[in-house]
Amino acid sequence: MQRRLFIDFVRGKNGYRLARDCSIQQPLARALGLKHGRRPTILDGTAGLGADAWVLAALGCQVTMCERAPILHALLADALQRAAAEPATAPTAARLELLPVDTTTCLAGEPLFQAIYLDPMYPQRRGSALNSLAMRTIRELVGNDEDSGDTLACARNHAPRVVVKRPRLAPFLVGGAPHHSIAAGQNRFDVYLGGVDEEITCGTVHRP
Ligand SMILES: C[S@@+](CC[C@H](N)C(=O)[O-])C[C@H]1O[C@@H](n2cnc3c(N)ncnc32)[C@H](O)[C@@H]1O
Repeated sequence: MQRRLFIDFVRGKNGYRLARDCSIQQPLARALGLKHGRRPTILDGTAGLGADAWVLAALGCQVTMCERAPILHALLADALQRAAAEPATAPTAARLELLPVDTTTCLAGEPLFQAIYLDPMYPQRRGSALNSLAMRTIRELVGNDEDSGDTLACARNHAPRVVVKRPRLAPFLVGGAPHHSIAAGQNRFDVYLGGVDEEITCGTVHRP
């Protein structure tokens, strides 16, 4: 059966999610360190369909998205272009940057981001929300992100805060226990702190 897959930041699920909860109290925002008057610069190292990055940008963060799968990068680029053309979503789209690279390539330089977010594909069955047709289709396209432990190790050397989204009952990614975890329905956010100093030095993002 042929499926049509496209990303829509303006309407549908992304619009609904923002209308339902666009506060810094939501678990994703708390895990990444958003507070009143504090909007960290974020690298989303596993952009996927861009839903989480879109929420963070809507909350006021500058977000750089890395997506290494060419088809997903193309879908994201198309969706961002449409969002940028709509007055209601243009300011959020302007806070998002999209790079067609592996996150470890992007992180080859000095620490640049105050937080890094990772939401790798997980081989086992995840909560029903993440077993959507869209997510199953992504898995068919990109596989299982078997290198996510290496990506986490790299991220921890490049930001003072790294957050990994995991199914609620899944083991931690390889590399040790997080500083703390935040529960979020069928998922949880594992928060790793202190990999590098909170003082961010300036470097250059390695762009293709
Ligand atoms: C589960 S999806 C992420 C979903 C995303 N959080 C969202 O809100 O739509 C994982 C995505 O990360 C990408 N990915 C995994 N490891 C990566 C890496 N090291 N560099 C760049 N992209 C990566 C995969 O290609 C896949 O598209």
